[in-house]
Amino acid sequence: DDIYYFDKVDSTNSFAKKLALEGAKEGTIILSNEQTGGRGRLGRVWISPPCSSISMSLILKPSIRPWDAAKITEITAAAVAIAIEKVTNLDVNIKWPNDIIIQNKKVCGILTEMGAELDNINYVIVGIGINVNIDEFPDEIKEVATSLKKVAGKEISRKEIVINIVREFEKLYYNFIETGSLKETVEICKRKSATLGKTVKIINKSETIIAEAVDINDEGELLVRKENGEIISVISGEVSV
Ligand code: BTN
Repeated sequence: DDIYYFDKVDSTNSFAKKLALEGAKEGTIILSNEQTGGRGRLGRVWISPPCSSISMSLILKPSIRPWDAAKITEITAAAVAIAIEKVTNLDVNIKWPNDIIIQNKKVCGILTEMGAELDNINYVIVGIGINVNIDEFPDEIKEVATSLKKVAGKEISRKEIVINIVREFEKLYYNFIETGSLKETVEICKRKSATLGKTVKIINKSETIIAEAVDINDEGELLVRKENGEIISVISGEVSV
């Protein structure tokens, strides 16, 4: 597979998008020691200080429908959770659908972006940002963010984490592509869920719902019970506990 490794780039996702549009092949990996314009979800800024975080993007070309792209995010979350656990032995949780948290604070965010025409996907970019050896966070995110080094009490090898992410991702992704089933991923997301059993606020484009997260179904959708007892499935969205 092709691997691009930068010392500094604006955003590995933005670079990946350029490559994808130029015809880069599935499995292309972009890594950078630092991002100067790292992007988070919902237009937020993502900080990736030099050499202490992982900024990684994968280019994928799955034959799936655009509305199934959220499944790729869940596959990634499951792969990252397992990878971090294998390398650090820490207890890792997944805040559905795409934050990895340890001791209730965020260590990793995932930003999935795609290029689609009509009902067909041209490419999917999965961006993974992990706070590995960051010592201090800016005041605005201090309360909600942490790093692997902070919780483990020692430096963690970025290389080991990346290797393990790629290995776990390949397993779960090809399993999904070959069988169409998200079973393995869902099993991991449920086992490590920081969301199930909690009251959540789901902010979608049109409305805000307060409900209890009760399950994740075989499609990877979050099932929530509304105050009136009705159970609905949520495909994606901003979930806060
Ligand atoms: C979030 O939780 O808001 C998602 C954060 C995603 C950050 C990663 S770092 C690598 C890739 N490049 C970006 O610009 N963003 C993603």
